[in-house]
Amino acid sequence: MWAWGVSLAMLMAVTGCGARPVVHRGHVAARPPAVMDPGKLAKKLESMQPGWPRARRIDCAHLKCVALTFDDGPGDYTDGLLDLLRDRGVRATFFVVGQMVAADKGGHCTRRIVAEGHEIGNHSWSHLSLPELSDHALRFQLKHTGDLVESLTGVRMRVMRPPYGATSRRVAAEARREGLAQILWSVDTLDWRDRVPAVVTRRAGRAGVGAIVLMHDIHRTTVEAVPGLLDLLAKKGYTLVTISELYGRTPAPGRMYTAR
Ligand code: NI
Repeated sequence: MWAWGVSLAMLMAVTGCGARPVVHRGHVAARPPAVMDPGKLAKKLESMQPGWPRARRIDCAHLKCVALTFDDGPGDYTDGLLDLLRDRGVRATFFVVGQMVAADKGGHCTRRIVAEGHEIGNHSWSHLSLPELSDHALRFQLKHTGDLVESLTGVRMRVMRPPYGATSRRVAAEARREGLAQILWSVDTLDWRDRVPAVVTRRAGRAGVGAIVLMHDIHRTTVEAVPGLLDLLAKKGYTLVTISELYGRTPAPGRMYTAR
């Protein structure tokens, strides 16, 4: 969440999910989304993800659930993280940045996120603090990202996370208009600051029942922290779920959530 503002240069050096992102600080011109032939896309998505978003039958009113969330990607380490989660049968939620999706060649990682049953959420187009934007720029940040993800995956996102956790009544209203619930977090791993896998594992491992854990898949050290974290949470008897699974339904547009 904070990583973008804090280490922009580092981020530019390491991210991209196979492609280098274009990072802007201001309002950016719309880049035309890479649109596949609609018939081809529909066929591909049908084979990739029958019935998405398909929540599993998990009742977090009775189980000990935790939602892991990964922000600011897709980046260079997202593929590896997806491999890990797939091999362990774990689902998470990815709050993607529009510019990073645009830099994700062919939408490879973005499509994988959806195809492998994870929830995908809107983390704005260029990771700006949304309350400071004009109405027009605010709308662009959410809508353009939503349109791009939809063009690549066929999925319209239902959750968003405001960059830096910065929101306002105006941001809430725009999120509601876009059909997006605002998802914050209850456990901050500070993984953007402390690039030590054991530290990230320990902090995330403190999650209690119903927690939403904030991490960033743009950092190698965070992805390295995940195997140990999955072991730790499994030992504690936690079931790892997506945001919608945590609440047992799609959260309400515009409303703010920090934990179950
Ligand atoms: Ni962020």
